[in-house]
Amino acid sequence: MGLKRVGVAIVAAVVAVSCGGGGGGDDSNTPTTTISMVELGKKLFFDTNLSSGSNQSCGTCHDPSNGFADPRVSVTAPVSEGSVGGRFGDRNAPTAAYASFSPQFGEVANQDQTPETDSNYQGGQFLDGRAVDLIEQAKGPFLNPVEMNNATEADVVAKVQNSNYSGDFVAVFGAAAFNDIATAYHNIATAIAAFEASSEVNPFTSKFDAFLMGQYTMTPSEQRGFDLFNDAEITKCANCHTVGSTSQESLFTNFRYYNIGTPKNLQNPAYIADNNFVDNGLGASSEIAVADQAAELGKFKVPTLRNVELTAPYMHNGVYATLEETVLHYDIQVANLFITPEVNNSNIAAELNAGTFVGLGLSDQDRADLVNFMKTLTDGHF
Ligand code: HEC
Ligand code: HEC
Repeated sequence: MGLKRVGVAIVAAVVAVSCGGGGGGDDSNTPTTTISMVELGKKLFFDTNLSSGSNQSCGTCHDPSNGFADPRVSVTAPVSEGSVGGRFGDRNAPTAAYASFSPQFGEVANQDQTPETDSNYQGGQFLDGRAVDLIEQAKGPFLNPVEMNNATEADVVAKVQNSNYSGDFVAVFGAAAFNDIATAYHNIATAIAAFEASSEVNPFTSKFDAFLMGQYTMTPSEQRGFDLFNDAEITKCANCHTVGSTSQESLFTNFRYYNIGTPKNLQNPAYIADNNFVDNGLGASSEIAVADQAAELGKFKVPTLRNVELTAPYMHNGVYATLEETVLHYDIQVANLFITPEVNNSNIAAELNAGTFVGLGLSDQDRADLVNFMKTLTDGHF
């Protein structure tokens, strides 16, 4: 469907900044360095000072060595701890990589998919699409009490102004960069979004990318998994987790919203606190006015599967520990393994509840092949 990157325009302009610094040295040969919006955004993304306890950055929960997801979580502790110890959100942190390719949140213009993959909305950021784009998304975590927990935008801006890279901020956004709090806060988010749209966060360097360029031959198991993944009759994986003929067309998500009957995770603090807790996803977002809320209950944005090998546990509430279990979800055994789908308003979940879901009928080998294929999506092969 030809999704284009619409998130953030990377600012190509590179501004010269004096290194300054009290290092003395040779004044006649003033050293200069260059700082781009992307580099500034990277400093902001990894600055732990920008949290109330000076102990947490965006990169804590979106760690590059863990596929830009949180290395601290597991199926029994599936949600990220905030800057203040003991505080947790409800949802499993998704990767921040490849998120820049999500279009702005909006209604699906063309209903061109099969009935199973019909959807009314696409795009946006967060699993329920409540931030229209990356800039609006980046404004959230700084002030969220269960995340970085700053009291006000002014607090965050002051921390940037007092940082050792405040000169970079001025170099990118001008001499008046800190004069107006709202503008400065918006620009902090703008720089972070530029970093998130950069090739460092979206490298496209997996075995699968090499395969698309004719530079990697899949093992027989990976190839069988790829064929199964693309099967529009049996698995239907690629109907939602889009595969194209180029890397940029293969983001492994159509950025649309579906209820796939993800069960509750009773080890998630939200469910421990309240057994009846149900995450209704897009249908319960207070920030988004959908036309028919009941029709959107239990729907979550299709996640990219790039680097999925590194981002366990899986699903919005972290209910599955491994990719093997996640594939089982799509197979018949989901009915035996789990008691209640979290919500039951549509599609597969409705079928499950009605007992009419026959599963995919995959063999052990088929499931292993699907997992092996998904492991070709890990960056860093070349
Ligand atoms: C305490 C852990 C934590 C911190 C810190 C954190 N995030 Fe997140 N991030 C999450 C969780 C959890 C979600 C999913 C929340 C939801 O969907 O409601 C998320 C979602 C996202 C998404 C949306 C991805 C998608 O596919 O929709 C992006 C992008 C993102 N975060 C970037 C950031 C940035 C930028 C920062 C720093 C300003 C940051 N995060 C700080 C945990 C964290
Ligand atoms: C109808 C659309 C649809 C189809 C078909 C589909 N998926 Fe998904 N997939 C989703 C959605 C939506 C989620 C997120 C659900 C949630 O968070 O509760 C998801 C989540 C996943 C995850 C977890 C990713 C993560 O980061 O947590 C994996 C792995 C996955 N799917 C693999 C597959 C495979 C393999 C197939 C084929 C057997 C498949 N999917 C078919 C929509 C789909």
